[in-house]
Amino acid sequence: MGVTFKNLGILLAALVASGTWLGTSWGDGSTPTFPPVSDKTAATECSACHMAYPAGLLPARSWTRMMRDLENHFGEDASLSAEETRAVTRYLQDNAADSAHANDRMRRIAGGIPSNAAPLRFTETPYFGYLHDEVPAYVWKRAKIGSRANCIACHTRSESGSFVEREIKIPKD
Ligand code: HEC
Ligand code: HEC
Repeated sequence: MGVTFKNLGILLAALVASGTWLGTSWGDGSTPTFPPVSDKTAATECSACHMAYPAGLLPARSWTRMMRDLENHFGEDASLSAEETRAVTRYLQDNAADSAHANDRMRRIAGGIPSNAAPLRFTETPYFGYLHDEVPAYVWKRAKIGSRANCIACHTRSESGSFVEREIKIPKD
């Protein structure tokens, strides 16, 4: 029978979907490390105070927990209408670190979190610590950084979902 074009297409699509092909090419910048938020409501509403954090940074149970209490969101009231809350929650859950869409990086985030924990911060997960273990404490305190959650201070293209090493620029003050 041999490999027809149609079969080849299906094979390539399967490789891409499983992340074995494009998914492992982090580092060359062609695939976003964490796909940026593609839901319109989430992209707008969740970028008012900080960058819209990619859904792949936390497991679904974390998003569920966060979205249940937006009124008390890290000392801010980030509440949305009931309809918006539902839509954004579903989007974040469907694209979470433990979702079917997860790439290898997201699976590593999810794999590092105990199943009975639902952290609200990616910056407090073991995988964040592992990736950043060479950043000294005094660097995090620099004025232009201010917070570990301020990804964009160092990852210059993080808003497009890209975190590759050559795009990192740590502010000097
Ligand atoms: C009114 C301002 C405001 C809005 C709107 C807002 N946030 Fe936040 N969010 C914050 C603050 C403040 C923090 C803490 C930032 C810090 O520690 O640097 C935070 C932190 C976070 C963190 C933790 C980051 C980390 O890993 O440490 C996540 C995740 C997050 N927000 C998601 C969301 C989502 C999802 C939405 C939309 C539903 C949203 N935020 C809307 C103010 C806001
Ligand atoms: C102080 C600046 C700084 C901040 C803020 C920061 N990072 Fe990083 N990040 C680094 C450095 C330095 C590395 C290590 C680069 C290396 O050694 O490969 C790194 C590595 C990474 C990597 C692995 C990159 C690769 O391809 O190897 C990811 C993913 C990442 N950071 C995500 C984040 C996210 C998401 C946030 C925000 C929640 C964040 N970082 C905040 C400095 C920062």
